[in-house]
Amino acid sequence: MASNSTATLFFLLLPISFLGVTSQQKHSAQINLGSSISPRSLRSSWSSPSGHFEFGFYHEGLGFKIGIWLVGTEQNTVVWTANRDDPPVTSNAILSLHQSGKLLLRTEHGQEKIIANTTYPSTSASMLDSGNFVLYNNHSHIIWESFQYPTDTILGDQLLSAGKELFSSLSDTDHSTGRFHLQMQLDGNLVLYPINTDNSSIDAYWSSETFGNGFKYHLYLNHTGLLAIVNTTSSEMVRSLSLGGGGSSSSENGQKVEIYRATIDSDGIFRLYYHGVDDKNNGKAKNAVMVWKALNNPCEVQGFCGINSFCAIFDDQPNCLCIPGSDFVDLNQKTLGCLRNYSDEGCVYGRENTTFYSMEKMENIMWGDIAYMEASMSMEECENSCLEDCNRGAALFKQDEEDYESDLCLKQKLPLRYLRRDFDNSITTTAFIKVGKKDETTTINGTNSVPTVLVPPGRTQQVITSKIVLIQILVLVIAFVIFSFVSLAISGLYIFKIRILRYKRLGEINGQMGCSGDDELIALRVFSYNELKKATDGFKEELGKGSFGAVYKGVLNRGRKLVAVKRLEKLIEEGEREFRAEMRAISRTNHKNLVRLMGYCAEDSKRLLVYEYMSNGSLADLLFKQAKRPDWNSRVRIAIDVAKGINYLHEQCRTPIIHCDVKPQNILMDDFWNAKISDFGLAKLLMPDQTRTFTGIRGTRGYLAPEWEKNTPISVKADVYSYGIVLLEIICCRRNLEMNVPTIDEIVLSCWIYKCFASRQLYKRGVGEDADKETLEKMVKVGLWCIQDEPVLRPSMKSVVLMLEGITDIASPPCPTSSSI
Ligand SMILES: *[C@@H]1O[C@H](CO)[C@@H](O)[C@H](O)[C@H]1NC(C)=O
Ligand SMILES: *[C@@H]1O[C@H](CO)[C@@H](O)[C@H](O)[C@H]1NC(C)=O
Ligand SMILES: *[C@@H]1O[C@H](CO)[C@@H](O)[C@H](O)[C@H]1NC(C)=O
Ligand SMILES: *[C@@H]1O[C@H](CO)[C@@H](O)[C@H](O)[C@H]1NC(C)=O
Ligand SMILES: *[C@@H]1O[C@H](CO)[C@@H](O)[C@H](O)[C@H]1NC(C)=O
Ligand SMILES: *[C@@H]1O[C@H](CO)[C@@H](O)[C@H](O)[C@H]1NC(C)=O
Ligand SMILES: *[C@@H]1O[C@H](CO)[C@@H](O)[C@H](O)[C@H]1NC(C)=O
Ligand SMILES: *[C@@H]1O[C@H](CO)[C@@H](O)[C@H](O)[C@H]1NC(C)=O
Repeated sequence: MASNSTATLFFLLLPISFLGVTSQQKHSAQINLGSSISPRSLRSSWSSPSGHFEFGFYHEGLGFKIGIWLVGTEQNTVVWTANRDDPPVTSNAILSLHQSGKLLLRTEHGQEKIIANTTYPSTSASMLDSGNFVLYNNHSHIIWESFQYPTDTILGDQLLSAGKELFSSLSDTDHSTGRFHLQMQLDGNLVLYPINTDNSSIDAYWSSETFGNGFKYHLYLNHTGLLAIVNTTSSEMVRSLSLGGGGSSSSENGQKVEIYRATIDSDGIFRLYYHGVDDKNNGKAKNAVMVWKALNNPCEVQGFCGINSFCAIFDDQPNCLCIPGSDFVDLNQKTLGCLRNYSDEGCVYGRENTTFYSMEKMENIMWGDIAYMEASMSMEECENSCLEDCNRGAALFKQDEEDYESDLCLKQKLPLRYLRRDFDNSITTTAFIKVGKKDETTTINGTNSVPTVLVPPGRTQQVITSKIVLIQILVLVIAFVIFSFVSLAISGLYIFKIRILRYKRLGEINGQMGCSGDDELIALRVFSYNELKKATDGFKEELGKGSFGAVYKGVLNRGRKLVAVKRLEKLIEEGEREFRAEMRAISRTNHKNLVRLMGYCAEDSKRLLVYEYMSNGSLADLLFKQAKRPDWNSRVRIAIDVAKGINYLHEQCRTPIIHCDVKPQNILMDDFWNAKISDFGLAKLLMPDQTRTFTGIRGTRGYLAPEWEKNTPISVKADVYSYGIVLLEIICCRRNLEMNVPTIDEIVLSCWIYKCFASRQLYKRGVGEDADKETLEKMVKVGLWCIQDEPVLRPSMKSVVLMLEGITDIASPPCPTSSSI
């Protein structure tokens, strides 16, 4: 913390002219005793010297709250709020650094509230450029800082210490405590939970899976965007969540400022954002760009929907829907959950009188709660068993595609929690929900099983204490609901059908043209040769040389957009029409691990392709040329990214695209060190006759599957082979063929690794020196499966992804090759 006092000194010495031009920015950095701000007065906030952060009153609801926000974004991004659950104050409120050394808020009615609770009086305060608001004592020591009391956000250089937590906000505009929290647990695990739960593993919907074994960890965001879990005792990084800017920007000389923030958003997802600072815009921060997120699917956030309701994605948005036999607690707040709307008929001798009940069937529903009964049985038995069971509830039937003996029936009591609809599942699930035939209104004396803690987490939650009040409300609601719901259900059904139709149509279009997953069909731009010549300044700056031609750096849109232009040289007799058709198909690939093709040029015999520009070079540079190899966790992430990109080409397109040239030189790194595959489909484009004996390709021999040379048909498995080699190279940070090695054994990496693996000496022999043992073994096994001589033995890219992510187990691979290479 000593650096903070020197920092203040630095700010004080800054010439005033440096402090920007707008009136807001002219404030000096030090706030002295007696200073005050008010929404009414000229000064309603104190600004940091750079002007990027301000501390003071901001609009919330009909009044104001006190907090810290990032200046310049469209909606000021609030990063901290004082007493966040207090109601907003009116514009007559005054915040002052009182002569007594306290930071006090005086409301309209004369009430006083301490904003910063310090043991000793402070003598000055300061809003620092880091976004930290601090109070100093008379020795210029920091005695209070907002960084110690984070709300939903941590900023660059801020810690979330062991035992501390972040709570989401209620919404983007209401910063009071929301429905989710992120806990840096004392056991070293960083975990996301819905609030008002037991914080047990069933409630957790994401965790960093880091365990300290007695040591404490904290979460740290460094100011170049590295979000990591760090051992508090040794200061070692345990796991990096995001790769970070890698120190590529020159922040030392104070010219380029980058602001990162990690926030648990109101939807419960923990995300890392980047705010660039635009020199043209008065040096203000730009809108957020998301760099990393803990989960992709908002429906996987447990507790997003309340009890007895399930989460489903429509139009990319999560929606909550009631399970059959229940209605929303509050139609205007669908995330609050649903209540059963039928009555109980009692149980006779431990068996339900089944004439009063029926079962509703729903496909692809999942839930995360623990079942009270789990047994292996058929689907029909599962359904009946739940119907006859006296527990009002539901059953989840899990079908095992391969072995019907292991079909499972899981029974669950009401209220049901953590339900979601999930189409993207390897296991087929069917849910059976028990529904009463009798209307709740007829027999009020039957509600004894309605749970008292009905409403899921939230500030709006009102613990309904009196059952009588509840029943009265229910009667009214149900009477209303019976009428309105039927019409709602009917119109809902129509909307649903229309949506499905629309999805189908989209799917058809995509199927014809290219790949699924792209909702916007981005038009491919056709460039003229002269345009590209100008953009690249006469093909001046060569970025690299691929097997089909050189790549040049270029700028479009008057210098605003950087691009990479590839000039194809060895195009074999390819009809104009096919060239364009193929280009169109490739342009529709849209995946975060594929480099985007923006346009092309086909004039006379000239063929050029325009790609988005990747600022951080290729994976080959990263692995083989850097003095310091990228750390193990980053390499694991890169390996998975690449696998996902290839999987997309293979599986998400109607006609699978075979890349044919997967190698580290073709895997590029973007600004945020995400790996993206480039040149996809090019190989196929250049050689439409895939079964032809290959000629012409040079320099990538080490990555080619054996079938290329055997003149046997080429399938997607050829890419799997190349990926396997790349994976082994990522593990070891060396090329597959390397002459400069201690022993002859080590020349061919794939052979050497197999030997080490077979003799269980991976770790001893220094394969992937910095790796953790378990992941290393997993990755090596996957790599060895991928490079099997026999294409059928190689796994699909989908299985590769699942294996690398640890979702499926991996058998021990046999020797990859029958003959030695
Ligand atoms: C200030 O902190 C002390 C202990 O740290 C606590 O006892 C006291 O209640 C706090 N005061 C307020 C107003 O929060
Ligand atoms: C700082 O404040 C403490 C008590 O608040 C006082 O005892 C001390 O003399 C002060 N020191 C200076 C240098 O003013
Ligand atoms: C779960 O964590 C929250 C936030 O720390 C806490 O308020 C709550 O009491 C915890 N619940 C239990 C059952 O420990
Ligand atoms: C954390 O640091 C301590 C002290 O250096 C060390 O003994 C321990 O092994 C570290 N734990 C992990 C999991 O890295
Ligand atoms: C932030 O992390 C990156 C990546 O590890 C590192 O290169 C950089 O030096 C770090 N920056 C600071 C200020 O710690
Ligand atoms: C179920 O209830 C109906 C109507 O009350 C009754 O006629 C029937 O006998 C009951 N069946 C059993 C098995 O109890
Ligand atoms: C209960 O709600 C469902 C909708 O979930 C509705 O179809 C049904 O008619 C309702 N039943 C009663 C008795 O209100
Ligand atoms: C509900 O019905 C049971 C008998 O079926 C009776 O003993 C009980 O008093 C009733 N409760 C109320 C609140 O009417």
